Amino acid sequence: MTVAPDAPILFFDSGVGGLSILAPARAAIPTAPIVYAADSAGFPYGTKSEAEIAARVPALLGRLVERYRPRLAVIACNTASTIALQHVRAALDIPVVGTVPAIKPAALLSKSRVFGVLGTDATVRQPYVDRLAAEHGADCIMLRHGSAALVQLAEAKLRGETLDPQVARDALAGLLDQPGGDRMDMVVLACTHFPLVERELAAAAPHPMGFVHGGEGIARRIAFLTKDQPWPTKATPGVAVFTRVDAKVDALRPALAGYGLERLNAL
Ligand code: DGL
Repeated sequence: MTVAPDAPILFFDSGVGGLSILAPARAAIPTAPIVYAADSAGFPYGTKSEAEIAARVPALLGRLVERYRPRLAVIACNTASTIALQHVRAALDIPVVGTVPAIKPAALLSKSRVFGVLGTDATVRQPYVDRLAAEHGADCIMLRHGSAALVQLAEAKLRGETLDPQVARDALAGLLDQPGGDRMDMVVLACTHFPLVERELAAAAPHPMGFVHGGEGIARRIAFLTKDQPWPTKATPGVAVFTRVDAKVDALRPALAGYGLERLNAL
């Protein structure tokens, strides 16, 4: 299939979390045209049921692909990927890259053999997480915790609001207070919102620990899948698309511009 140079890459998340995936991808392919879609009308996903997510995400991606004709779609959301990736792939005729919890690198890097998985409630209960742990960290203790408040913290940070440091402390305590938690030395940021508040998490940690997420790996995957395709010679302004535009979304404009998303559309 021939691809036009101006065919965009589509990133999809419930909110701003996917920006942590967009940033390394943009660094890898600086002139890539970008459409960043956030399901603000459906946010947050982490407290929804599997059935709701499995119904909502493929339908939305179908509409987005019809409107923007991307060359590739990235589900820049762990919750949507761990639940709906197969449904999305079945519904679309373009390559779809998902975001899966970075359990493999955490298990590789953990010296204490205790690592944590910090995600949304919906992600940390997925059998997929158990499969990854069995495959890559069978000799490790894997602790898991879901935090909806940390998702809200990341959104608030990008709106430029003052942040309560207790939110990051509570999220880490959800892991550290479990048996073995005092030995935890690696944390998988298994929600794309969480790398956006990595600094706050590191500041809240009672002892040094490493944080890992999938952003760099996804950027390499995108570069690989598009390696023979043409790109524009100059960068063009990216487009942010929201399923509902309200005052909260409006407050994101400066942060979005920092990621090259200078135009804002409603879906
Ligand atoms: N950013 C999303 C994830 O990676 C979901 C956040 C939410 O909507 O709860 O899981």
